[in-house]
Amino acid sequence: MEILQNELNENFKQLNITCAGLDYEIKISKKGKVLKNKKKNNHDISELSKSFLHNRKKNYIFEEGIFVPALFELGIMTESGKIITSKYDKFKQINRFAECVDDALKNCSKDSLEIIDFGCGKSYLTFVLYYYITEIKKIRAHITGLDLKKDVIEKCRMTAEKYKYAGLDFICADIKDYVPETAPDMVVTLHACDTATDYALYNAISWNSKYIFSVPCCQHELNSKINLKNFSILSDHGLIKERFSALATDAIRAKILELCGYKTDILEFIDIENSPKNLLIRAEKNKLPNEYKQRVIKSEIKKFTNELGAEITLQNLIFSK
Ligand SMILES: C[S@@+](CC[C@H](N)C(=O)[O-])C[C@H]1O[C@@H](n2cnc3c(N)ncnc32)[C@H](O)[C@@H]1O
Repeated sequence: MEILQNELNENFKQLNITCAGLDYEIKISKKGKVLKNKKKNNHDISELSKSFLHNRKKNYIFEEGIFVPALFELGIMTESGKIITSKYDKFKQINRFAECVDDALKNCSKDSLEIIDFGCGKSYLTFVLYYYITEIKKIRAHITGLDLKKDVIEKCRMTAEKYKYAGLDFICADIKDYVPETAPDMVVTLHACDTATDYALYNAISWNSKYIFSVPCCQHELNSKINLKNFSILSDHGLIKERFSALATDAIRAKILELCGYKTDILEFIDIENSPKNLLIRAEKNKLPNEYKQRVIKSEIKKFTNELGAEITLQNLIFSK
């Protein structure tokens, strides 16, 4: 009771309590008046307690035990649908990634989607997204996986052919040189190395892509350029400098997306034990901020990078336009 009283005094303005049979609502008005209300409900206590269990089983888009051809072909799952132990982290990553994409698609009215996966590598994510969007959601989609590695891209092409995935293409190219035939609605990256993520974000912004889902990785650029004169405390521990640089890089990226009219969040899309590179930049195209807001955002970015004594590739690409 004491804790609740303190919270209502300081941090919260409303408390809702649900019990079997009764709902209570306590609100604090703007003038500080306490308003109380209660009403009957038909909740069953055993059902209620089940829904509040924190360790309840998470429902993933792809469940272990349910056969997914793409996951089998890519060596993540056995024929009986069991996840191969060494691939469990990858399975979780693509599952959660697909879940985030699925959330966005719930409000999407398009009946066909153009998607690109930059730095697709072995294309676990590309295949799984294709399977999920076209075979489960029954949305028409053309997905392109792009990577620098010729042999890997060749293997992906053969797999797509084997499964007759006609809307799936693989291209061997550098992200920064890629010019699409049709501007993608969605750009995804999962652990595209260092500045590859910047080029991917820059492309998405230039193409006005509606959705961006990007999990960055090895953000070395800032780490190598940052001026430690202003941050001497960071130079004592390489690990701290590295993590700080990675977080600063993603903070600048998120601000630039905001400047370019994207509603942007950064979320921990999987637990850190599945991968330490677990931040997802999720952005959805919205309105451009007004001129005043743009000036404020630009000066925020400038001030921060002046302090760091270094800029990131995305910033240079956007501001040199
Ligand atoms: C860590 S792997 C991630 C692969 C895959 N997305 C996954 O999650 O399994 C990063 C990939 O990005 C590719 N890559 C890095 N820089 C690139 C660039 N400039 N253009 C295209 N691909 C790039 C690499 O070849 C590599 O396959």
